Amino acid sequence: MSTVEDVDLGRRRFLTATATVVGGVGVAFAAVPFLKSWSPSERAQAAGAPVEADISKLEEGAMMTVEWRGKPVWLLKRSKKMLDDLPTLQDQLLDPNSQMASQQPKYAQNAQRSIKAEVLVLIGICTHLGCSPTFRPDVAPADLGPDWKGGFFCPCHGSRFDLAGRVYKGVPAPSNLEVPSYRFLSDSRVLIGVDPEAA
Ligand code: FES
Repeated sequence: MSTVEDVDLGRRRFLTATATVVGGVGVAFAAVPFLKSWSPSERAQAAGAPVEADISKLEEGAMMTVEWRGKPVWLLKRSKKMLDDLPTLQDQLLDPNSQMASQQPKYAQNAQRSIKAEVLVLIGICTHLGCSPTFRPDVAPADLGPDWKGGFFCPCHGSRFDLAGRVYKGVPAPSNLEVPSYRFLSDSRVLIGVDPEAA
């Protein structure tokens, strides 16, 4: 026959066992950061360290991608024609003057959304549900129509962005593609993840 004391004892045993299991889990989690300490690049990325991009070989009209904080960051060398087309699109865009402050640093809140007009730096993640849009610099392709002046097309739900990452009206994405913080170390080296005024 069980007594109150027996039940309490059983309960205590159960609590002890639970505490041991939880303790074991705690140890397992604690071991992960320790192992990570053996991989400096992984640790730096997880911490969001700035990433340097060498754009010396980037040709006019071409784009390259680097990874920063686990996200793709695009660097596009825009041609004069690409830049000249930007003002002609104003009426078709949702936020043509980059009023939404969250989508770019102050120094990129301009007509080109960049520090240097010819170099566009963007986070390559669609502002709708996070797919990665496709770079479509081709003018007037059959699938995007005769008015397409080049830009980024998201295949997931059809959002369109121009070559400054500005979103078109009437698509699911609610805002322009995000410009990360960045600065130029030289004409051909860009540091992503650091503002220009940072030392
Ligand atoms: S995720 Fe890009 S349009 Fe939906």
